[in-house]
Amino acid sequence: MISSSQAQANSGANPYLIQSATIVDKIREAEKIDTYRLRFVDEEVRRSFRFAAGQFNMVYLFGVGEVAISIVSDPDEPEFLDHTIRIVGRVTEAIARLQQGDILGIRGPFGRGWPLDEAQGKDVVIVTGGLGCAPVVGAIEYIFRRRRQYGAVKILHGVKTPHDLLYRERFDAWRRHPDTEVLLTSDQPDKTWHYHVGVVTELFEKVTIDPARTMVLMCGPEIMMRLGVPILMRRGIPANAIYSSLERHMECGIGLCGHCQLGPFFLCKDGPVMRYDRVMPWVGRNGV
Ligand SMILES: Cc1cc2nc3c(=O)[nH]c(=O)nc-3n(C[C@H](O)[C@H](O)[C@H](O)COP(=O)(O)OP(=O)(O)OC[C@H]3O[C@@H](n4cnc5c(N)ncnc54)[C@H](O)[C@@H]3O)c2cc1C
Ligand code: FES
Repeated sequence: MISSSQAQANSGANPYLIQSATIVDKIREAEKIDTYRLRFVDEEVRRSFRFAAGQFNMVYLFGVGEVAISIVSDPDEPEFLDHTIRIVGRVTEAIARLQQGDILGIRGPFGRGWPLDEAQGKDVVIVTGGLGCAPVVGAIEYIFRRRRQYGAVKILHGVKTPHDLLYRERFDAWRRHPDTEVLLTSDQPDKTWHYHVGVVTELFEKVTIDPARTMVLMCGPEIMMRLGVPILMRRGIPANAIYSSLERHMECGIGLCGHCQLGPFFLCKDGPVMRYDRVMPWVGRNGV
């Protein structure tokens, strides 16, 4: 097994090269959200492709365009590449028409993932909302493969409605790990919902946190981070122990075009995972 920082250092040999990958499986996760399991056509690429949890690929549909999509798969099983994609516009709508056996192009992996080496020995609190759970799946699998190197793990995830809950079986499986809590919440419950009702930040009250030994990983709508971080800081967690994965429109993926700029940072190469104290002034503001 290679470490998280080794995988980040190894990644992205030629950032312009698009590699063909076959869709070997397509799973409907929720309305307008599918997971694509991809396998590189080229055997050598299959062998050498490595990524760190939290990195993303530029997913290219030939003749249509390219979109930034987080890598969902387990970094220790790099042969298959999972991407969960929500249909929102031109490229993602066209991708959604593809089926098993069709080909997508992949450029990557790009960016900096979660600081999982730095988190060793600490408790890890993972806070996600909606599709924000996609970029942390690989981090959670990474931690559970090395369970004894980490302290308590608390996974707090919020959705708007029960129908928006992705990866149900994964949440159930994670719950069975030692020293692990998984808390789910829905803004609008239905009769099938057995978990908390309300926004994800309400779940902070339901877990004990030792601020001196906790690292927080967050991903979701920026409003969740803007409201959630001050609550965590009032609980004594410093902003430099909070990491968030941030989204901006991306074109090149390698720090050249400037589309993904956030204050002094280019999120494609300085992020998408950023230490919160470094980006605090710009989170939730447009055009910065
Ligand atoms: C680092 C990174 C990781 C990402 N990971 C994922 C992922 O794992 N899965 C995933 O589905 N998406 C992910 N995204 C978002 C994804 O890149 C965009 O949804 C995609 O570029 C939209 O392209 P499009 O051509 O389909 O839509 P466009 O035609 O570009 O947009 C159509 C409409 O949708 C709006 N829109 C664009 N992006 C979003 C968005 N993210 N949410 C809501 N509305 C939007 C636009 O404002 C526009 O009104 C990620 C983005 C970044 C930067
Ligand atoms: S996407 Fe081009 S600089 Fe980040």
